[in-house]
Amino acid sequence: MGGPRIQVVQDADELGRAGADLVAGVFAATPAASVVVATGRTPMGLYAELAGCRRSGLADTTRITVYQLDEYLGLEPGDRRSLFGWMRRRFLEPLGITGERVVRLPLGGDLEGACAAFDRALEERGGLDLAILGLGPNGHLGFNEPPSDPWAPTRVVDLSPVTIVANASYWGEVADVPTRAVTMGMGQLLSARAIVLVVSGKSKREIAHRALEGPVGPGVPASFLQEAASGVTVIVDRAAWGNG
Ligand code: GLP
Repeated sequence: MGGPRIQVVQDADELGRAGADLVAGVFAATPAASVVVATGRTPMGLYAELAGCRRSGLADTTRITVYQLDEYLGLEPGDRRSLFGWMRRRFLEPLGITGERVVRLPLGGDLEGACAAFDRALEERGGLDLAILGLGPNGHLGFNEPPSDPWAPTRVVDLSPVTIVANASYWGEVADVPTRAVTMGMGQLLSARAIVLVVSGKSKREIAHRALEGPVGPGVPASFLQEAASGVTVIVDRAAWGNG
């Protein structure tokens, strides 16, 4: 308890190194950790640093299991916009995580039932040891768009206009961004035994302060990190935090 530990770093490079140190520490303490990892731009430096740690024998990922955080709905297999594809290229492959050690979100069939089964299976395996998350421009975690309750389960969501605009920068233009997605729930994320939130850049400054210092409520889902029972570390660069 005691609220998130806020670690202010100089810039995006230092954020990557500090984040990788922290994650490598979790892997060392919990070699068979269950981990959920965000896509988005912010954690990419962390993942590259972590892959470097693995190559030099400082991080062992042979027993880690990785869960998918979020995915767009309605994409054909192989679509360039797949968030799973992004995670595979930038996290799973560089860290040598394959096969049964990768747990994907359901994307078809009876989605409501399949999401509930996903949450049950995660709980039966003991829940998450670590969540590596980024901060959406509207305070979302994964695709838990405002309003999201802290117990919200894994589910289908409609993306908000501000999220669609932000995601357009990944894929081209607004019309390229799917409008629906599946996200791991707030309940699953907030129950993780450790949470690392990475925040970088001036455009995140206002939402970072609202999320971490403002009122706690569903209107800014990341604000629930202030009350999470788990160990929450926020690694934020000066551009996003100011001088404190
Ligand atoms: C996206 C993703 C999140 C990500 C966040 C921040 O919409 N759904 O998982 O963490 O927004 O992304 P970025 O790091 O690119 O700012």
